[in-house]
Amino acid sequence: MLRHKKLKDRGKSVNRSKDLLTVRWENNQVIMIDQTKLPAKLVYVKYRKYEDVARAIERLVVRGAPAIGVAAAFGMSLAAISSKAKNKNSLLKDLKIAYERLRSTRPTAVNLVWALDQIMKVASSKNDLEEMKKSIVLSSLNMATEDISTNKKLGQNGAEMIHNHDVILTHCNAGSLATVAYGTALGVLRAASDMGKNIRVVATETRPVMQGSRLTAFELDHYGIDFSLIPDTAVGHIMSSGLIKRVIVGADRVLKTGHVYNKIGTYQVAALAKRHDIPFYVAAPSSTFDLTSKVSDVIIEERNKNELMKMGNKLLAPRGIKVFNPAFDVTPPELITGIITEKGIIKPPYEDSISKIF
Ligand code: MRU
Repeated sequence: MLRHKKLKDRGKSVNRSKDLLTVRWENNQVIMIDQTKLPAKLVYVKYRKYEDVARAIERLVVRGAPAIGVAAAFGMSLAAISSKAKNKNSLLKDLKIAYERLRSTRPTAVNLVWALDQIMKVASSKNDLEEMKKSIVLSSLNMATEDISTNKKLGQNGAEMIHNHDVILTHCNAGSLATVAYGTALGVLRAASDMGKNIRVVATETRPVMQGSRLTAFELDHYGIDFSLIPDTAVGHIMSSGLIKRVIVGADRVLKTGHVYNKIGTYQVAALAKRHDIPFYVAAPSSTFDLTSKVSDVIIEERNKNELMKMGNKLLAPRGIKVFNPAFDVTPPELITGIITEKGIIKPPYEDSISKIF
């Protein structure tokens, strides 16, 4: 049986009440937590070129749907201020090149293209070059601020349905590190904990990139929320023991039908939750909803086979074998109890409730 030990303050110099600020803009630079270095080191990287931001998104220095959206918007700000264009059309041309490069980094999370589209819209609406550049930077800053306030609202909405002494399972990382600062699924848990609810969390390790063990465990430890880490393969076992009272995960894209794209393994967790009558919730801000695509339109990212083949330099499987490494899966609406947004909790039938709320 899973036992939860109260976290001890290990006397680290981190301020536990302080938000982890995942991505920000300062002195015409984008500053991010380098998530590839977590949990060993909390280090920040600075970028002055949009190309470096694009590479950072590809390398998972920054990851999580809302965080890559804001990072890409800041990338557009870098492209705007470094452009040598002398008129609106040539600035728009430079921006379009940056747009395409940033958009090509990761295909599944819709927040990326949502953020890039917002920036292009703002740029096209101005005529004066300086005004265009200023409004792009301002829009990306607003997007970052709004990401925090939206997720706080979403967190409050979700926290209302958490009961005292609930044990909640989460998969992947949908926390501060996946957003600008507050988190979506973990934002709900933080808000519940701040309301004085006594909660415990079970976090899956989330193979093969280990967002659960490297990032969610780091965050929950940072915020002083009681949790245990489990292998992905223990989800069914733990659910069958009756310990888990609800599941909350984030999302990379939600369709108008209620289909939810999230980290690979989410579908398995949802199917097992259904099998054990455990409510399965998704936490997603408006920027994660894609009201135009169909399931057949969405590209599920396939990542490098080395994520499965190697752990550091150690070989985990025979060289030369075939590998399939999808980064996301789709959870169908019939497995989802509710979708928590900043506008309220959306319930099935999703076609109706999503179109009403938007
Ligand atoms: O590949 P990643 O780490 O970018 O995948 C992240 C997830 O799947 C998260 O659960 C999702 O982006 C929600 S973030 C609030």
